[in-house]
Amino acid sequence: MRYLMAALILVSSCAVLGDPIEDAVKARQGFFTMLSANMGPLSGMVKGELDYDEATATMHGANIEALSQYGLPMHFPKGSSTAELGEATGAKSKIWSNLEDFKQKFADFQKAAEGAGESVKGGKSNVRPVVQGLGKTCKSCHDEYRVKK
Ligand code: HEC
Repeated sequence: MRYLMAALILVSSCAVLGDPIEDAVKARQGFFTMLSANMGPLSGMVKGELDYDEATATMHGANIEALSQYGLPMHFPKGSSTAELGEATGAKSKIWSNLEDFKQKFADFQKAAEGAGESVKGGKSNVRPVVQGLGKTCKSCHDEYRVKK
């Protein structure tokens, strides 16, 4: 019992160690890093910088699809925009005054990611529409809600 209590205290103190705002920024930036790590090779195949390989393309497409299922908006708590955090984030404060639109843009991305793992099979020409469809949704959200670097 004593050990259990000690373990519980340890666990709960770990949970409060991190700053929730900082953690949210880290989590969403990590999410986007993973997203672009999978988009990059697919767009490389489209551009002919990388050879098309069905297994590799399928893996990246499936990863993007899996990421799209993640509830990302939870990592956009109030108080985590450039207004409060400066250069530590690229998230414009207008995200929070247009939250429904921001979430809609994430939903557009989710829709574009549907079936990506399957759609990229069968040749390079099948990768192009997937990359274009997804790329449009990245750009549409970044244009509105992300600070240009
Ligand atoms: C719903 C809006 C939205 C969509 C859709 C979206 N992004 Fe972003 N993205 C953002 C915002 C906001 C940030 C800034 C996050 C921050 O710095 O806190 C960002 C940041 C990034 C970053 C920088 C991460 C870092 O480490 O600073 C990359 C890379 C990125 N996005 C890639 C993509 C790609 C690729 C797609 C499409 C497949 C995409 N994003 C779709 C809103 C979006």
